[in-house]
Amino acid sequence: MRLHVLDHPLIAHKLTVLRDKTTPSPVFRQLVEELVTLLAYEATREVRVEDKEIETPVTHTIGKRMADPRPVVVPILRAGLGMLEGMTRLLPTAEVGFLGMVRDDETLEASTYANRLPEDLSGRQCFVLDPMLATGGTLVASIEYLLDLGARDVTAVCLLAAPEGLDRVAKEIGHRVEVTIVTAAVDERLDEHGYIVPGLGDAGDRLYGVVG
Ligand code: URA
Repeated sequence: MRLHVLDHPLIAHKLTVLRDKTTPSPVFRQLVEELVTLLAYEATREVRVEDKEIETPVTHTIGKRMADPRPVVVPILRAGLGMLEGMTRLLPTAEVGFLGMVRDDETLEASTYANRLPEDLSGRQCFVLDPMLATGGTLVASIEYLLDLGARDVTAVCLLAAPEGLDRVAKEIGHRVEVTIVTAAVDERLDEHGYIVPGLGDAGDRLYGVVG
């Protein structure tokens, strides 16, 4: 597993506003988009490109364009949806799939309740959007789902990660495929309810409000 923790003053600033419990949902949503665009810049460092011949107003030259097949961006519902706009701003030609995962509040285990993905992901670069890498249950289950569809090149973009979740991804997925995690920070620990400390609370609720 490769881990990239982005050390940048703008990322630290935006993350601090996200962590602040007085930040209202509209500001939180806007900041998540901005932060994800910055994370996406690092996450796409190895996106596949190919040569492209063009004429500039001055001369003939060879540049680059994104190669086919296009990458697949997979937000994990519900909270990953808040990261989609920021990611596709940088990767406008990517295909977007969806994976709905729900976490059992007692066991903290994740299971799939919805999916809309290409049937065959072999040869596709996949970018999973999951804001909070907490216990790692959701991310492990999501990546396993993508591996079963043939994916072998998976990058997870997370706003925050906990050491416990990183360990779990490394142990449970690391031997099957080289996964890359890109995050704005690795926090201290999980609390007894599986929340990241200091964290930012429930990312879905902060983005979209509490649903009954
Ligand atoms: N999911 C969240 O939204 N927040 C956490 O801190 C952990 C899991």
